[in-house]
Amino acid sequence: MTYDFDKIVDRSCSHSVKFESKLCNQISEEAIPMWIADMDFEVAPPIAEAIRKRADHAVFGYSKCSAEYFESVVNWMRDRHNWTITSEWIATAPGVVPALNFAVRAFLNSGDKVIIQQPVYYPFMRVVESNGFEYVNNELEFKHDRYEINFEDFEHKARDPRTKMFILCNPHNPIGRVWSKEELSRLANICLANDVLIISDEIHHDLVFPSRGIKHIPMASLSSAISKRTITCTAPNKSFNIAGLQSANIIIEDPILRQGFVDEINKTGVGSFNPFALVAAEAGYREGGDWLDAAIDYIEGNKQYVMKFVEEKLPNIRVLDSEATFLLWIDFRDLGLDQWELQQFLRHKALVWLDSGFVFGESGSGFERMNIACSRHIVEEAMNRIERAVKSRMVIS
Ligand SMILES: Cc1ncc(COP(=O)(O)O)c(C=O)c1O
Repeated sequence: MTYDFDKIVDRSCSHSVKFESKLCNQISEEAIPMWIADMDFEVAPPIAEAIRKRADHAVFGYSKCSAEYFESVVNWMRDRHNWTITSEWIATAPGVVPALNFAVRAFLNSGDKVIIQQPVYYPFMRVVESNGFEYVNNELEFKHDRYEINFEDFEHKARDPRTKMFILCNPHNPIGRVWSKEELSRLANICLANDVLIISDEIHHDLVFPSRGIKHIPMASLSSAISKRTITCTAPNKSFNIAGLQSANIIIEDPILRQGFVDEINKTGVGSFNPFALVAAEAGYREGGDWLDAAIDYIEGNKQYVMKFVEEKLPNIRVLDSEATFLLWIDFRDLGLDQWELQQFLRHKALVWLDSGFVFGESGSGFERMNIACSRHIVEEAMNRIERAVKSRMVIS
């Protein structure tokens, strides 16, 4: 089946955070929103159909996951990720960020530390700090246009007896790396040796570019010992563009850890499931694979367009050749602007609204994250705007 990803859907009156928060963020009305990580594409037809059918039923009482729902998740992990799990291992949550909050509350005590790897999805820092814990940063190293892990530093931090948890991002937002088997094994073995619990946020697992010949490897699939010390956060939200419906599948093999996690959810009273999320996720897992493959192809086309554009027309800017996600990490440091000037320049002069790199950690300063899960026409317009703004700046200075 073919899908029309070129189509521009008007999201301006759909309660969209991405499109309808300009005023409170002091963003000019004409700026193109390419920030927060949802797609501008219509969902896969089977998902839209499942939601319509559920809406027609017109009774929306408290809902729970069926055996068929869990089966669809188990099959997806087996078929897409070569990972064998069982229905019992799955704890559901209203999202991955809520799940990260539940995990730190369930498994950390006062004074405990958590390793994260900046630049990284900024809620990682917020989750740790807002629950009263401390994060320690195993800074990713930017070498030859690629980020690498500093294992010596990681081990040093893991050895601290107060370090009890590591939150991994794989694939890594915002830098688009898919960590290799060797990298994951090294990290996991250090965690196991130092009794550090692994929280593996794999929400972007389905969005890997096949042309790179790289496959996502679930951390917990590496060995039984690693699986028993890993909480894997997955969700249909990014893969099928249903983040607003709010659901996640948190996969925990160890029954004691799983019970600890579920107890924490129960304390908050958010255990019931949104009925639309249930049918949408199940339709995606059962029938959305074809749409997802086509969406990834289209997004990769957008990425190639941006890379070629920058290479040909913007010698002061570099785009990282990402392996996954619909988020591009763009290096604007050669423009010579500080992080606030860069933010203002892009939002008010170029009129494109990207995520400022510094929110992902200090080392993100001078970078910006661009969401390219949108029509190619929008990407073209955004790049033309950036080019015009950069060139007019060069003429003035
Ligand atoms: C790494 C990562 N984790 C979690 C989330 C958000 O997950 P959810 O909407 O399920 O809370 C995002 C969204 O951008 C993300 O990039």
